[in-house]
Amino acid sequence: MAQEQVVTPWEVSGSGAIDYDKLISQFGCEKLEQRLIDRVVKLTGKRAHTFLRRGVFFAHRDFEKVLDSYEKGEKFYLYTGRGPSSEALHLGHLIPFMFTKYLQDAFKVPLVIQLTDDEKCMWKNLSVEETKRLARENAKDIIACGFDISRTFIFSDFQYVGRGFYENMITIAKSVTFNQVKGIFGFDGESHIGKIFFPAVQAAPSFPTSFPHLFGTKSKIKCLIPCAIDQDPYFRMTRDVAPRLGYQKPALIESRFFPALQGESGKMSASDTNSAIYVKDTQKEIKKKIANYALSGGGDTKELQRKNGANLKVDIPFKYLTFFLDDDEELERIRDEYGSGRMLTGEIKNILSDVLWKMVEQHQQARLAVTEEMVDAFMAPREMPFMFEK
Ligand code: TYM
Repeated sequence: MAQEQVVTPWEVSGSGAIDYDKLISQFGCEKLEQRLIDRVVKLTGKRAHTFLRRGVFFAHRDFEKVLDSYEKGEKFYLYTGRGPSSEALHLGHLIPFMFTKYLQDAFKVPLVIQLTDDEKCMWKNLSVEETKRLARENAKDIIACGFDISRTFIFSDFQYVGRGFYENMITIAKSVTFNQVKGIFGFDGESHIGKIFFPAVQAAPSFPTSFPHLFGTKSKIKCLIPCAIDQDPYFRMTRDVAPRLGYQKPALIESRFFPALQGESGKMSASDTNSAIYVKDTQKEIKKKIANYALSGGGDTKELQRKNGANLKVDIPFKYLTFFLDDDEELERIRDEYGSGRMLTGEIKNILSDVLWKMVEQHQQARLAVTEEMVDAFMAPREMPFMFEK
């Protein structure tokens, strides 16, 4: 019997490739239709991001409502996050951040980024000190994505939680029963109470009053959350309680997973170094990982590849290019050449190594330029008077 696919914030598994259509109906979100992408282009005057053109962001909740109100001149803010469980981000983690930067630049809106050091301290059995250190290290990688400091507030839960944020956490926690979180997250009687309470911590930034220095007491500003679909359970819960607490439901725009080198049944995971390419990897490491571990849909021998071409449905080098090769024409050329067998597996792997290294090298240079003072500045609770400025 085929193994049931499991997608939670902590586990992504199944017997084959993830069935994203099934996930949409299982979770109750909506497909991101071309019509909405066209509206984004029209409203922002910017070309659709690669991740929109390629269907990487494929699902949403109430994104249309955000666009409707933006069209009428109403404001919204962006909220995303990272659970600092490893020293460096992998390429999968970059996806929501790259996309959030595009949204921030296109719509000119404020952004809050939650670093859930508390979550990783509880789930990964790391010390408080270690998760705080990792949060700061991860903040540098996030800043290196190019966020605008006049509209971006990054915070760690251990450092920031209090006042309006804590009041919202408690109000949310009071509105969700143990049975509800059991149903949504699969907790049981053995789960410690920290885990059971944590969803209220990730829910709180969806409400503007959690950030009094940014939004004062304004409770009606809409929130849009870009993330991969594994985070959906948190926000299903948040959306359920929002109207009862007098808040708008947060909207979401959700991506597929950047798959592991070994194939599409899982997401790239930070805890398995051979499944992932990290933003810290050297050119040599990237080349080697792709050569040795990237699942190929190409023929087993040169002759078979020439004769039958590659199976692009399972081929990881081709999949990775659909995420990160921005040039549409070049991607089509590779699809044709490799799919028909004129291009060999070694060649597509070389193309991919070059594309990824170019991106990673740029990221590494940007990260080198991030100083401790810059981290402090992004993480300072402060007013951002120009955060909605065009
Ligand atoms: P974390 O650190 O597991 O992941 C950070 C962000 O990266 C996305 N992601 C991926 N996207 C594409 N392909 C992958 N292989 C992949 N792996 C991870 C995640 O969906 C996430 O957007 N609890 C959260 C931190 C958090 C958060 C948030 C995330 C707090 N508030 C609001 C999104 C939105 C976490 O541990 O993420």
